[in-house]
Amino acid sequence: MPMTPEPAVLAAFEAAKGFMPADEGLALYAAAAEAARLGLPLLEVGTYCGRSTILLAGAARAAGVTALTVDHHRGSEEQQPGWEYHDPETVDAELGVMDTLPTFRRTLHRAGLEDHVVALVGRSPQVAAVWNTPLALVFVDGGHTDEHASADYEGWAPHVADGGLLVIHDVFPDPADEFTGQAPYRVYLRALASGAFTEVSATGSLRVLRRTGAGV
Ligand SMILES: C[S@@+](CC[C@H](N)C(=O)[O-])C[C@H]1O[C@@H](n2cnc3c(N)ncnc32)[C@H](O)[C@@H]1O
Repeated sequence: MPMTPEPAVLAAFEAAKGFMPADEGLALYAAAAEAARLGLPLLEVGTYCGRSTILLAGAARAAGVTALTVDHHRGSEEQQPGWEYHDPETVDAELGVMDTLPTFRRTLHRAGLEDHVVALVGRSPQVAAVWNTPLALVFVDGGHTDEHASADYEGWAPHVADGGLLVIHDVFPDPADEFTGQAPYRVYLRALASGAFTEVSATGSLRVLRRTGAGV
């Protein structure tokens, strides 16, 4: 199975609203394509408008597995009105609150990938609490506070199958580089310190870890 996305998948990723740069996207796709060989689902925490979901969906389609993506679609702290990463196009005009679900659905439809993705709309810890299926890959890109990033790790990392991958976005070891806090970096350190995960690769702020031991 190719470790790079089909041209149409890459083009859809590049055209989608979101935050992930191309080099990190290619690293995420390669991790997803490799992990999908386990024949288990791929799961993302933090859908937003579907930019990174497109890559997981492309890898899932190629491998004949399903991509799952979790988000309450109300935005993270830094995406709320008045904050640096706010996009007025993501606001529900009737309710006056953020709703990224319509944009996400349009994005996936245009990319022709709807059939390969299950969207789980809800708070990550609440979805994780009822989850009981091993996963080939967990991609953590949800809330960037310590509370949210830790809950994502505790809720989802236990489900990474033996030999599966844990991918963490926005890992900034140098506080001078960070833009939404260092909580993902602390989760990355915690995963390594657990003895359950070993680093495979680092691309920009994306870290790929493999489960090489039990626990979290
Ligand atoms: C940085 S964005 C994800 C970006 C996306 N992966 C991309 O590449 O474009 C983070 C997302 O996490 C979601 N989020 C934050 N905290 C959450 C929580 N506790 N449960 C579910 N979703 C959450 C926000 O609504 C937001 O859409």
